[in-house]
Amino acid sequence: VESPSSLILLFGATGDLAKRKLYPSLYNLYIKGQLSDRFAVVGVARRLKNDAELREWVKDSILTYGESENEKDINAFTSHFYYQSHDVTDSASYKQLKTLVDRLDKEYELGGNRIFYLAMSPEFFGTVAEHLKEDGLTDTNGFKRLVIEKPFGHDLQSAIKLNNQIRKAFDEDEIYRIDHYLGKEMVQNIEVIRFSNAIFEPLWNNRYISNIQITSSETLGVEERANYYDKSGAIRDMVQNHMMQMVTLLAMEPPIKLTTDEIRSEKVKVLRALRPVDKKNIHDYFVRGQYGKGQINGKEVVGYRQEMNVPEDSNTETYFAGKLLIDNFRWAGVPFYVRTGKRMAAKSTKIVIQFKDIPMNLYFKTGSNLKPNLLVIHIQPDEGITLHLNVKKAGQGIVTTPIKLKYSTKGVDGMNTPEAYEKLLYDCLRGDATNFTHWDEVALSWQFVDEISAVWENEPAVFPNYPAGSMGPKEADLLLEKDGFSWWSII
Ligand code: BG6
Repeated sequence: VESPSSLILLFGATGDLAKRKLYPSLYNLYIKGQLSDRFAVVGVARRLKNDAELREWVKDSILTYGESENEKDINAFTSHFYYQSHDVTDSASYKQLKTLVDRLDKEYELGGNRIFYLAMSPEFFGTVAEHLKEDGLTDTNGFKRLVIEKPFGHDLQSAIKLNNQIRKAFDEDEIYRIDHYLGKEMVQNIEVIRFSNAIFEPLWNNRYISNIQITSSETLGVEERANYYDKSGAIRDMVQNHMMQMVTLLAMEPPIKLTTDEIRSEKVKVLRALRPVDKKNIHDYFVRGQYGKGQINGKEVVGYRQEMNVPEDSNTETYFAGKLLIDNFRWAGVPFYVRTGKRMAAKSTKIVIQFKDIPMNLYFKTGSNLKPNLLVIHIQPDEGITLHLNVKKAGQGIVTTPIKLKYSTKGVDGMNTPEAYEKLLYDCLRGDATNFTHWDEVALSWQFVDEISAVWENEPAVFPNYPAGSMGPKEADLLLEKDGFSWWSII
């Protein structure tokens, strides 16, 4: 289905995100006929000169990161792009922008529909939103939507401040806070797996599930992002947003309808039920790590403290593991173990739901290889699910053996599922905010995370404590061992 006509005003048009994700995704929508022909993109940045340069830039991005090499299509697509050099703090600059936007609105018959996409340095998010209103850009007859990249604040306090700034110009339902994990095919599948299967839904609670493990490991290090990352760390970079979002989707109650408000309100309830951990007990529930030198794919890599722009004594965690408890009827007593880190052994995001052992297993005897039932949701790079069961081992005698039932979306469809950004852009164009983060979710997850950061920031850690290429510090294993569990391997 084609989305409504719209102008997209993109701040950060020469940035990394635009280049790697936004242009190729928008182009895919265009090729699939999911973008109205009546669309125009105004790219706002500082380093280019004119429309022609931006169009070349976009073309180059599609050729490098996209799936097409069809020059004719690409040229037709980029003809919708316009460039505006811009100073984010200067009103005169916004007035110029308004003149251009108003002109394009008429030319392309866009009906005044506007999407303002902030894919730039977060320090300017608030300022830009305020100017958009003050200088008349949000004054339109069509819809106006603000798409805002992470990080949404640095902690609860700064997030509140930012939110107040953007709320001066946009209503909550006009704000699309990006969490790109919510655009991933298998993250969106969590709900469907849970709520459309009679064999899972009745078991999805503390009577039958013993623990849930969410792992998002990366092999990349900090790359060129130390200026941001060293002030952020794994907890702010990954846990406050992506990991917490996966927890809410796994734990929420079935919504009464599949509408944005109903789904979000169930997710918010999960966050409200998260058990706050007292400062003095933080170490019993959460583990931090920082990578030292090691090997990734057989190649030597330096430790975090030796990376470009990282202070030699940095106390920033590049690894997080934690035990989250949700104090409600469904989940009381079921730990949600969450871990994420840079420079780990593999790039992988997986969720393992471990079911309880049956009370008296008749096959629990020597010679039987009994394993707990697991449901594994593969988020990336594989996409699919695996169900671990026990069956009889073929042959003489009654001995059990574990087997796996596998489903892989890539195998079935024979193609890659759309990139998260493609789905999210399409949702935003159609006005569907379900897979974006509501303010209440942002606030509650900061509140939870702030308690942990407050303790960690005041206590220097003994870093580095895991070698690059490993699965993290040994304390993360102990975290589960003391509860009688262990991490299921993700490799
Ligand atoms: C981003 C973080 O939000 O997510 C990065 O800022 C991280 O540090 C990235 O690398 C991981 O995303 P994905 O989709 O590769 O798992």
